[in-house]
Amino acid sequence: MIAKSPVEEFSGLTALVTGGGSGIGRAIAVRYAAGGGNVVVLGRRAEPLEQTAQMAREFGVTADFVTCDVRDADAVTAAVDGVVEQFGRIDALVNNAAGNFICPAEELSPNGWRAVVDIVLNGTFYGTRAAGRHMLEAGGGSILNVIASYAWHGHPGTVHSAAAKGGILAMTRTLASEWGARGVRVNCISPGPTETEGAGAALWPTEADRARVLGSVPAARFTTPEEVAESAAFLLDPRRAAYITGDVLSVDGGQWLGKAVYADSAAGSR
Ligand code: HXC
Repeated sequence: MIAKSPVEEFSGLTALVTGGGSGIGRAIAVRYAAGGGNVVVLGRRAEPLEQTAQMAREFGVTADFVTCDVRDADAVTAAVDGVVEQFGRIDALVNNAAGNFICPAEELSPNGWRAVVDIVLNGTFYGTRAAGRHMLEAGGGSILNVIASYAWHGHPGTVHSAAAKGGILAMTRTLASEWGARGVRVNCISPGPTETEGAGAALWPTEADRARVLGSVPAARFTTPEEVAESAAFLLDPRRAAYITGDVLSVDGGQWLGKAVYADSAAGSR
């Protein structure tokens, strides 16, 4: 449950959130609205998108949705242009749409590789290119990409997703330096294991999987979409995060650091 933000940091601004019909995307969209911003959510199915838009409207903002597959570059460009037509601006783009499944690399079909890379890496570029053009013209904006820590440390069974997320990290740093002088900030957020239907079904389908994942987190708990959205809101805030670009904020309870090997983690080095 997201409460109205005490500071309406997004008042008068507009965001587009891909994959906004569920999970982290929905929570970010609703959090943006809680901060007074107008929001458009993009995804493949109208019904959950409309639900998110309705949740956003409860904060008194204008919220809408657009159905589109992020693999379709023309459709993504049309969606971004539609936001600018409707609201006169696009201040934030959150590239959150993702597709994922665990599969040993040697068993992954070229089509399976392509499906994930198309959604995650290519979809992120299509949205970024389209929104970036408007932001550069307007003299500012913020792009936030949702990645995972295996973008930099790798992880068995995720070769397609890790390669795509790693590509996004390189894209983020490249565009932060390419567009920085023109006021467009580009950052990543890297959530740890988050209680969403999509992630749970894909990444910890059984109780044993769930216990194993939980055991890998120094903070000893999963996170929630709302907690991730709070960090996303910070990075999207044009005032508090004005000087942050090309960076990654991990919201993972320390998961990527790994648990202690030579000593019990609770005991430290004692
Ligand atoms: C092996 C698989 C597979 C699996 C699909 N494929 N699932 N291969 N194991 N479990 C293969 C198919 O066999 C096919 O290849 C190819 O991938 C495309 O499959 P389709 O189902 O035809 O593709 P499509 O309908 O486009 O679906 C794309 C998708 C799907 C990525 C496969 O899962 C999807 O749309 N997911 C969106 C939602 C989602 O995944 N959410 C979870 C995000 S959680 P062949 O060769 O047979 O044609 C997340 C968290 C990451 O990202 C961070 C964690 C820390």
